[in-house]
Amino acid sequence: MSRIYVIHENNEWVEPLRDKLSVRGLPFEEWFLNTGAVDLGKTPPEGVFYNRMSASSHSRDHRYAPEYTAAVIAWLENHGRRVLNGGRALQLEISKVAQYTALEAEGVRVPRTVAAVGSAELIAAAEDFQRPFITKHNRAGKGLGVRLFQDVTALTGYVNGPEFVPSVDGITLLQEYIASPKRVITRVEFVGCRLLYALEVDTSQGFELCPADACRVDDAFCPVGEEPGLLFRIQDRFEHPLVAAYQRVMAANDIHIAGIEFVVDSEGVPYTYDINTNTNYNTEAEEKAGRSGMDVIAEYLGRELVRVERAAS
Ligand SMILES: Nc1ncnc2c1ncn2[C@@H]1O[C@H](COP(=O)(O)OP(=O)(O)O)[C@@H](O)[C@H]1O
Ligand SMILES: [Mg+2]
Repeated sequence: MSRIYVIHENNEWVEPLRDKLSVRGLPFEEWFLNTGAVDLGKTPPEGVFYNRMSASSHSRDHRYAPEYTAAVIAWLENHGRRVLNGGRALQLEISKVAQYTALEAEGVRVPRTVAAVGSAELIAAAEDFQRPFITKHNRAGKGLGVRLFQDVTALTGYVNGPEFVPSVDGITLLQEYIASPKRVITRVEFVGCRLLYALEVDTSQGFELCPADACRVDDAFCPVGEEPGLLFRIQDRFEHPLVAAYQRVMAANDIHIAGIEFVVDSEGVPYTYDINTNTNYNTEAEEKAGRSGMDVIAEYLGRELVRVERAAS
């Protein structure tokens, strides 16, 4: 019998989806792909495979989960299996450079960014970079390595100090800081490439704290976190030219389910800076708006399963 396979490395994040799939009575199985062994000579089971591998998996001690998942997906795709958020989507999930180039290819504006390997190279790149700027990890999620700097001296102190942690792939990004006068960012959610809703996130506590914690974002900006003072608000009827552009990016990169983030500067220009193929939804905001992203995903997975079964019979 064919089923829905959910590929992931974080039990907690799958809980809401598990519930919705169960309520709908859909047959599913989880593939927790931290370690494992895939026999390339074997035939994969029939079904629909939903990849929820996360860029931040190494922060949960699952260092090679994305690499292993890439191997498994290559095998699945080679056998013609339907993989939602396939191999190319995974490449984007674990590299912001891959995200930015894919966005630019579809005419979406991204913040000016330099990708650096090596501390000296990072500092040198900042010398003639516009200020203020931020750093972030190329392979991130959860705001890993996001810090705001007013000048090169501050960056140098950080990079040469005890708090500096390089990205797990060695690539640190230096990026133009986009100041939002409204102090919000918007995360546009898609399921099956269709707009689900846009989530507005209040970032007023983000970069404005004082020195020590000044520019720490960390988990606070992960929409699953319930940080006090952070506001998540669903915009139900979101209409924006970026929606169609994002859909083109998704189509070109084998992405079916994603949350894409942008920030608008003082001139009203939107800059897109993050594609999350492993998206999570904020419970409070959804309850307020009477929406459930995970239920929409469950319904979508159910429809895809029917399609796959019909094609096979
Ligand atoms: N270029 C930028 N200008 C201003 N704020 C930014 C910029 N990039 C990131 N941020 C802030 O930092 C948060 C985390 O950065 P993001 O690129 O989304 O990394 P992650 O993949 O770890 O979520 C964002 O939600 C946003 O609030
Ligand atoms: Mg983000």
